[in-house]
Amino acid sequence: MITYQLVIEGSYFSSASFDKADFTPESLICVDQSGIIDRVISVSENDYQTVKQAAIDNDILKKVPSGSYLLPGFTDLHIHAPQWPQAGLALDKPLNEWLNTYTFPLEAKFKDLNYAKKFYQSLIKELLANGTTTGLFFGSVDTNANLVLAKICAKLGQRAFIGKVAMDNHDQTPDYYRDETSQAALSETESFITQLQKLQQETGADLTPVITPRFVPSCTDETLQGLGDLAQKYNLPIQSHCSESIWEDQYAIDRFNLRDAEVLAKFGLLTDKAVMAHGTQLSDSDLELFEQKQTAIAHCPISNAYFGNSVMRVQAAQQHHVKVGLGTDISGGFSPSIYRNMQQAIMSSQMLQDSGQANTRLSASNAFYLATVGGAKALHIKSGQIKAGFKADLQIVQDQYFELSSNQASEIFERLVYHTNKENIKQVYVAGKLVHNNQGENNGK
Ligand code: GUN
Ligand code: FE
Repeated sequence: MITYQLVIEGSYFSSASFDKADFTPESLICVDQSGIIDRVISVSENDYQTVKQAAIDNDILKKVPSGSYLLPGFTDLHIHAPQWPQAGLALDKPLNEWLNTYTFPLEAKFKDLNYAKKFYQSLIKELLANGTTTGLFFGSVDTNANLVLAKICAKLGQRAFIGKVAMDNHDQTPDYYRDETSQAALSETESFITQLQKLQQETGADLTPVITPRFVPSCTDETLQGLGDLAQKYNLPIQSHCSESIWEDQYAIDRFNLRDAEVLAKFGLLTDKAVMAHGTQLSDSDLELFEQKQTAIAHCPISNAYFGNSVMRVQAAQQHHVKVGLGTDISGGFSPSIYRNMQQAIMSSQMLQDSGQANTRLSASNAFYLATVGGAKALHIKSGQIKAGFKADLQIVQDQYFELSSNQASEIFERLVYHTNKENIKQVYVAGKLVHNNQGENNGK
């Protein structure tokens, strides 16, 4: 028999499709030494007791308590790590003014590596405590600060995709916070890629560099083209913002006489490994372009309420077979919780429906799919589902109204989506490794 690193006994929810989350009663989730779910054994299988006993003997059995459930870990597809100190603050101006008044000055502070370390540590702990097992991060302009972020992710066990932010257009960036030239933006990006890859090899941590033009307005043509070339040269993921607001949409038309998505495509930045944040203003033809390029969208519903000028059309993206996951957009969105973003995605979709757009409503199952499968597909990782062959990215979550209300699986599921707070997230695992323990017992067993 294989020696597992961890066997979890419990019942769980996992997405079967965009429209359906499946419930599976009491099972053994067996995690191999590389952090992959090797088998899920149901009680009716012959060797259930044998495997369970072996796990007890090896002191690797984790029993999920009654009233708690196992869920896949979440993927947060859009986080600005250096905006964590202002999460919940400064949301009183439109996007472009917000960037210049609050956000660029804050991000500039991260070249002080002690400052960076303090806030990055706090952010990563907070994300893990909220059930986020994979994060796609915008860092800041400063390469060394981005390496500080990467080291903290490695130490705390967060799977992380991290980008050095490139922004060199003097018309749209302040002199105290920018890449001075296109040459600097590209060489710093390349230097970050090689240093992160080295760190990944040294630590074995799950870290991936990401090509990160901040957004079209922040970058010169040379930088947009050069970043597209680097993405191809290193075969790397790309992240940026696309059609986030009416202002951004109009900017692309004024400068290029093209739509924002078309500009990104022209410079080789819409690929099957690209994740574009927001897309609230995407037209049907933009969605067709996303479909053709197999580019994913990071839907950030809380942030969009402040800056998006409308609600992103998740159902339309779904109909175009465009991959969609969820993002917190710290700090355009104030909450580090993907649960809060699932709730907002549903609420915003109801408002879109009521504004007269048919077939736009999202269910709890839809939102859960975005948080798990959607995010994982966008990043091409085998995560977000509880089944053999997938990474053991898991969270143990307590249904706080278990004693009070119905215990039908569908109702438990909706309660978990709507009522889970940080306090109810008891343990979090990334690739089978315990990264957050809120159970108050010795090593959580
Ligand atoms: N567009 C360019 N930069 C940003 C940012 O930091 N946050 C958001 N929400 N949109 C942006
Ligand atoms: Fe953003």
